Amino acid sequence: MKKSAPSYQTQELREFAEILRGRRTIELFLQTPVPEKLILEAIETAIWVPNHHVTEPWHFYLLGKETQERCLDLCWDIVASKKDEKAADFKRQRWSQKPGWLVVTCQRSEDELLQRENFAACSAAVHALMLYLWKAGVGSKWTTGPITRDSRFFGIAGIDESKEFVVGLIWYGYPKLTPVQSRKELSEVSTKRP
Ligand SMILES: Cc1cc2nc3c(=O)[nH]c(=O)nc-3n(C[C@H](O)[C@H](O)[C@H](O)COP(=O)(O)O)c2cc1C
Repeated sequence: MKKSAPSYQTQELREFAEILRGRRTIELFLQTPVPEKLILEAIETAIWVPNHHVTEPWHFYLLGKETQERCLDLCWDIVASKKDEKAADFKRQRWSQKPGWLVVTCQRSEDELLQRENFAACSAAVHALMLYLWKAGVGSKWTTGPITRDSRFFGIAGIDESKEFVVGLIWYGYPKLTPVQSRKELSEVSTKRP
């Protein structure tokens, strides 16, 4: 039998690892609304991630029902112009089942390195937010589909496109189904140098 190295995991660490490893991207949600207070707490917590020069380059836009409806109409338009009305109806219907909508943006910068580092920080914040929600029983999906780069979307969400870009549209809600995922082995993704 293969002998494994002793684990350094304590019960607390195992539980923490379980949250990190167990979070999954959720496609299907229950229609139970998620309390707004929980989302605000998740944002307040997520902004404690590392961010170089403490630029705090993010902004979080919570989209209410009225704005969601306008996004659904835009989604329909985008798909209808790329494919056809049947495909647009199908996608609009699927998107209408996403209970919570949150847009995370990052400040644009002329300085390429600064913008790259700011984007990294925003990505860390999105992950932290998703994990916080996951621990609270709320699933989410990070999307970067064409709508997130469409000028009309910025108009609908009230985002200044000249100053910010979208890191992700995050749908959230209580999971209806949690999919299974796998990852590569540690030996495939890590290398030890002398
Ligand atoms: C930057 C980013 C953009 C993503 N955009 C999409 C997307 O547009 N559509 C989608 O289905 N999933 C999207 N995802 C989710 C990934 O597909 C998902 O994380 C991946 O399949 C691994 O699944 P897991 O999150 O359950 O581990 C995105 C994830 C990241 C980090």
